[in-house]
Formats: sequence, C-alpha cells, structure tokens
Amino acid sequence: MLKLKLATDPRWANIAEKSLSEILTDHAYCEQKAATSGINMIISCPWHPRLVNNMSALVAEEWGHFRKVLRELEKRDLPLGHKRKDDYVVQLLKLKYGGGDKNTHTCENLLMNAMIEARSCERFRVLSLNMEDEYFRKFYHEFMVSEAGHYAIFIDLAKEFMPESYINERWEAILDGEAKILAGLELRGDRVH
Ligand SMILES: [Fe+2]
Ligand SMILES: [Fe+2]
Repeated sequence: MLKLKLATDPRWANIAEKSLSEILTDHAYCEQKAATSGINMIISCPWHPRLVNNMSALVAEEWGHFRKVLRELEKRDLPLGHKRKDDYVVQLLKLKYGGGDKNTHTCENLLMNAMIEARSCERFRVLSLNMEDEYFRKFYHEFMVSEAGHYAIFIDLAKEFMPESYINERWEAILDGEAKILAGLELRGDRVH
C-alpha cells in the first residue's frame, strides 16, 4: 500500500530491542513531533474546516501515542531523556518543493507528513513482526495501524489543495528521494528512522 522504495532490514528490530530505552525515547519524540506538526498544519490553514477537523483529531491521537510511550519508560523507571537531532527528517525536508503558491506549499507540507507517517508505519511493522518480546510486537502493531491511517489522511487532504496528477508525480519523486536518504543513513538501533 505504502509503495516505499526501500524496505527496512528486519534484523533492525533485534538491534532496536537491545537498546529499548533509547528507541523508546526516540519514539516518544517522534510522536511529539507528529503532534506538533499537526498543530502547525492547523495554524497555517485555519480557513480550511476539513483540515482543521482532521488535524485536531490527529493531534489528539499522536499525543495519546506520546503518553503511551512515556508510560513504557515510566514502567522501567526511565526518564524521557533529551530530544535527539533527527537526520532523517532534516534531510527529508530538503526534498520539499519551495516554489508555487500557498496551495502548493500546503500540499508539500502534507506530503512530507505523509512520507514520515508511511516510513514510521513501515518501521513499526518491522518491529511488530520481528521483536522477540510478544508484548512489544502487539504494542508496535497498534502504532503501525494508526500511522497507516494518518498517512491516508495526509494524502487525502493533499488532494484538496492540488490535482491528483500533481500529487502522484510529487509522491513518486518524494519516494525516490526518501529511499536515497535512507540508503545513506546508518540503520541504528536507537532511532526509529
Ligand atoms: Fe503516532
Ligand atoms: Fe502518525
């Protein structure tokens, strides 16, 4: 469904499992960033009721995700820890087309969000299928399902701003660019991306 151009090596799940506190901290901040990003979409398009409505629900869900991950840290007496630099997102945002009008700009932001949701969904899927701990396999399965829904919401909203042919063309280009970025990044057990 997601048509990602580079699949994550399933062995990554076992590396991640060995640095659980690190991956939980990074995951918590991924959820915080997703919530923040949804809030920013609302602020940039307050005149669009459907976007505001969808984003307000998404923000609540992402914040619920943040709290879920936080609870796992608390259960283990682990502090949240500091936010890390997200090389994946920094590089991904460079793929954004900076030209065009306000609609183009909004569409690009929605597609960037869709890309991050799609990759997060894929990473959670790898965790849900390959972690040894059954509790975490179920834990990540729920995130996978939820982020897949978010990906669909962002793509759907993008179509309200630009024609479908534009979206399809840009999505292909973003998928290509994203695969190149990931190929150049080290696959780390302490990072979701
Ligand atoms: Fe989430
Ligand atoms: Fe999400």
